[in-house]
Amino acid sequence: MIKKRLLASAIAMGSALAIAAPAMADDLGNYRDRFEPLPHFPPIPADNSLTPEQVELGKFLFFEPRISSSGVISCATCHNPALGWADRIPRATGHDGQIGERNTPTVLNSGFLESQFWDGREPDLEGQALGPIEADVEMAMDLDSALERLTEFDLYQEKFARAFPDDDDPINADNLAHSLASFQRTLNTPNSPFDRYLRGDMEALNEQEKDGMVAFVDNGCIACHSGPALTDSNFHRIQVPGSTDVGRYEVTGDEADMYRFRTPTLRNVAVTYPYMNTGATETLEESVAIMGKEMLGRELDEQTIDDITAFMHTLTGEMPALEIPALP
Ligand code: HEC
Ligand code: HEC
Repeated sequence: MIKKRLLASAIAMGSALAIAAPAMADDLGNYRDRFEPLPHFPPIPADNSLTPEQVELGKFLFFEPRISSSGVISCATCHNPALGWADRIPRATGHDGQIGERNTPTVLNSGFLESQFWDGREPDLEGQALGPIEADVEMAMDLDSALERLTEFDLYQEKFARAFPDDDDPINADNLAHSLASFQRTLNTPNSPFDRYLRGDMEALNEQEKDGMVAFVDNGCIACHSGPALTDSNFHRIQVPGSTDVGRYEVTGDEADMYRFRTPTLRNVAVTYPYMNTGATETLEESVAIMGKEMLGRELDEQTIDDITAFMHTLTGEMPALEIPALP
């Protein structure tokens, strides 16, 4: 179908011109224009420069279990690099085996999000970083004690001093948050098949995947899943069956925000199952069908669901090259 249309337009354009064109574009330019490829780095805030020293320190801290009260839970326990930087269980298990309320989102590409958490209660990664350390159901650690523990290690004395050379007393909460944020801004996954396609490699997607992209636009998924990370970072009403979570309402107290949740990124969505804020949905097919029903008020047919699912698989990018740090 696509090929036939292409041939027709090539003839219409005048064959000499069409043949001279280097990489024959398909005729889906109007669709491609609705998307943006993922840049290698997200925007870097003015008050936290992305220095190699901070990133290195942030990496150690991300894997450091001694900033939890049990001494066994690190950020990487739930945001596990081997599991798409998430945990592959419906809802996170934290301190003392407690099960939290919500599914663990991946931290991949989190620097591209304009709000953090399912309810968007933190605007940026700096604000986000200290939450899980103190949260009772996550790491359950008093921040001062966490900082005290780090101070006991020469290696952290050195690494904090190197990352924050202007501070007399560099092991503090701000610097902990800044370095965790900087590390996370390096966890990006460019060059997915879809990015290569958007940049002009017409072979990077097969016909079904292209049909999926078309269905994604034509059915209106792109209204919320837009921009480089395929999220508008905005809040939309969805009541996942069996859940009493009020979402954004908890943050604003505004009735209009009842059951609103932030649109999650769809980058790497094929490897970050299970889905939804409760983690109750196992497969992408199921999630796509739910989205059709709940967000768009339409029953998507099986072919459309399969095509969109195939398209979602093209959003898996190159995982960050990472050497696991050897902790002191
Ligand atoms: C016990 C499991 C657990 C631990 C430990 C944990 N997280 Fe999370 N993380 C979660 C869950 C669950 C959420 C979603 C919570 C919510 O939305 O209310 C989350 C959300 C996030 C987000 C927001 C992503 C998004 O899409 O909004 C980031 C970033 C993040 N965590 C980074 C960290 C860092 C850094 C640490 C260590 C300091 C950490 N997490 C420790 C489970 C965990
Ligand atoms: C009105 C905005 C909106 C529209 C339209 C929309 N989505 Fe979503 N999408 C969301 C929100 C919000 C969530 C989070 C739901 C939750 O809180 O569990 C979500 C979640 C998802 C998830 C699960 C991701 C995860 O990590 O848990 C997938 C997959 C998805 N959407 C795909 C689609 C597809 C495909 C379409 C079109 C058929 C679509 N969405 C249409 C807002 C939207």
